[in-house]
Amino acid sequence: MAKISSMPASRSKILSKELVRAVKQSVKTAYAPYSKIRVGAGVLCKDGRIYTGSNIENSSYSLTMCAERIALFKALSEGERKFQVLLVYSPQIDFILPCGACLQVISEFAPNIMVVTMNKTAEFRFHPLKTLLTKPFIT
Ligand code: THU
Repeated sequence: MAKISSMPASRSKILSKELVRAVKQSVKTAYAPYSKIRVGAGVLCKDGRIYTGSNIENSSYSLTMCAERIALFKALSEGERKFQVLLVYSPQIDFILPCGACLQVISEFAPNIMVVTMNKTAEFRFHPLKTLLTKPFIT
């Protein structure tokens, strides 16, 4: 958390302590009895609202839903359409990044979003979505 103040101003501005706190909190609701990998995600919308999600697994495995899509779908279903930042975090995997399926979904609604990932000691890495998914599927 303290590391935020040592980041360049342009980056620390978009990464509020509130977003970090919300994502760390959301990990606690993860349901991951199969992989044991708990993930939390939070989207910061342009209006300042934050929507969080955690991964929810299923015994069928393939019906599992990632934290990122849950956070984004919660925001979308509340009518949000403009997004600034997606923060993703897992206590099990340092600097976890969204899977390919999530990248494709995110690119549909927020092609210019900044994806931020962090480790347990709150060090951050910044990845514009366009650098993670260079060629999305487009009809
Ligand atoms: N998972 C996420 O929630 N987000 C990611 O970015 C990658 C993977 C979840 C899905 C599954 O419950 C567990 O992590 C292991 O793949």
